[in-house]
Amino acid sequence: MMHSLEGKAILVTGGSSGIGQASALAMARAGAMITIADIDMARGEETVATIRARGGDAVFIRADVRDGADVEAAVHCVVRNHGRLDGAFNNAGILEGLFTSPVDCDESVWDRVIDVNLKGVWLCLKHELPQMRAQGGGVIVNHASIAGLYGNGIVGPAYIASKHGVVGLTRATALTYAAEGIRVNAICPGIINETVMSEAIYGDNPEREAQVRALYPAGRVGTLAEVAETVAWLFSDATSFMTGIALPVDGGLLAQ
Ligand SMILES: NC(=O)c1ccc[n+]([C@@H]2O[C@H](COP(=O)([O-])OP(=O)(O)OC[C@H]3O[C@@H](n4cnc5c(N)ncnc54)[C@H](O)[C@@H]3O)[C@@H](O)[C@H]2O)c1
Repeated sequence: MMHSLEGKAILVTGGSSGIGQASALAMARAGAMITIADIDMARGEETVATIRARGGDAVFIRADVRDGADVEAAVHCVVRNHGRLDGAFNNAGILEGLFTSPVDCDESVWDRVIDVNLKGVWLCLKHELPQMRAQGGGVIVNHASIAGLYGNGIVGPAYIASKHGVVGLTRATALTYAAEGIRVNAICPGIINETVMSEAIYGDNPEREAQVRALYPAGRVGTLAEVAETVAWLFSDATSFMTGIALPVDGGLLAQ
């Protein structure tokens, strides 16, 4: 059963594809008015069209989360259309440098991954928080990963560092604004099937897929719907006393 997000204006970065897209669709179904900010205009417009065709409310704005002016424009777009910014899913991210060690990792890979995954989330916070403070509250969900909570040899050092950074930034930001009615949490999924990232990790390599699956006590990796529903729940009033958490959605992987 989905909790209501009726009338909430929610920004989703990286909402053109994958988990961001699934979350935008789920939250629109729960009644949220969605703004998708992404560099992929074609898929972003398609996602918006799907939400509208289902009777929902959505707009797309092209924004690169590495660019402060773009992020500021995305926040202004939500406020111009809806008068406020109730929620922001800072989700845009990339995975590069798979299976590399800190020595093997290219400097250019390091810079790109940190720029999108960590600086991008910080720039979102920088431009979202003043609006939320001015209106007296809001909810932010940052997209980390289980790679923000433990080390592993799969996703590479830049990705691991970027996601640990997102968890730290989430905790620090939550503490700074807890008394102002602003909640800031991080979501930390394990590998999610049918995403660009699961494709990159095992693609059509059944042996590697079996190895990855064996890491999970649940005996499988996660689905897009399982993360999308959790994201929607974190934006709902059902979680009104939760802030500063880094929530694993991982079939028990980190409980081991
Ligand atoms: N897929 C997984 O298994 C998994 C697991 C844990 C965490 N995550 C995290 O989930 C988030 C989404 O990943 P996904 O698997 O849905 O990937 P995806 O590639 O399907 O979606 C990422 C979206 O972000 C957009 N994007 C990339 N760079 C951008 C930029 N500079 N500015 C704006 N938008 C940009 C892309 O265009 C795309 O629409 C990422 O932060 C990722 O680290 C994914």
